[in-house]
Amino acid sequence: MRKKIIAANWKMNMTVAETVSYLESFRVHVEPVNGVEIVIAPPFTAIAKLSELLGGSQKIRLGAQNMYFEKNGAFTGEVSASMLRELFVKYVILGHSERRQIFGETDALVNKKVVTALASGLRPILCVGETLEERDAGREKEVLETQLRGSLAGVTAAQMNDVVVAYEPVWAIGTGRNATPEQAQDAHKHVREVLAELTDAGTAAKVRIQYGGSVKPANAASLLGQPDIDGALVGGASLEALGFSEIVKAAVA
Ligand code: PGA
Repeated sequence: MRKKIIAANWKMNMTVAETVSYLESFRVHVEPVNGVEIVIAPPFTAIAKLSELLGGSQKIRLGAQNMYFEKNGAFTGEVSASMLRELFVKYVILGHSERRQIFGETDALVNKKVVTALASGLRPILCVGETLEERDAGREKEVLETQLRGSLAGVTAAQMNDVVVAYEPVWAIGTGRNATPEQAQDAHKHVREVLAELTDAGTAAKVRIQYGGSVKPANAASLLGQPDIDGALVGGASLEALGFSEIVKAAVA
């Protein structure tokens, strides 16, 4: 049984003060919820405060939205895996489509980050997904395969246990247009098949695959009810504590 994992990707939103009041209310809403892993990935500036407030909580895990693969040195503007580990960050989102599209990240760069994260004891949430143009051209499966092979090069079957894959069709991110549960299930099944080729069927069966792209309280249950959808990576709808808690609850319903 794969334990569902619901992650908040706050992107470039939320000050430290907003983080404090969000957590206060979110904790109350998810207090009765069990059997689902919750991750919050705030901007770097709020990680230290959130870490302090969570105090090693088993229920709500800390995530980061990015990191660099070098250990330290002259890399202005970047943050290393050990800096995140020092703050008890457990998950790191890597290869998000905004990183790929706005900041020019390639599969080769994402791969270096994935390998470094795993070697440093961080669990990558590896994002993959096709653009609208690629889907319209019927190329979505090929795109997913290329991204997975490129980003996971050199990752062993044992390490795959610590990897979460997020399928995020680019056309569904922040657009209000989510993939239908059937479209998402079809893509997730394909992702799992590629993972089985990269490792083995037993390993692939254990990897959690999140769906991301306009997940909201109203559509969460139908997406999370699909056999290969093991969680959600939530952007816009995670910025509001009550709404995000409803998505978390949909994972255990
Ligand atoms: P969205 O973003 O939920 O706002 O569509 C999802 C994501 O980019 O991870």
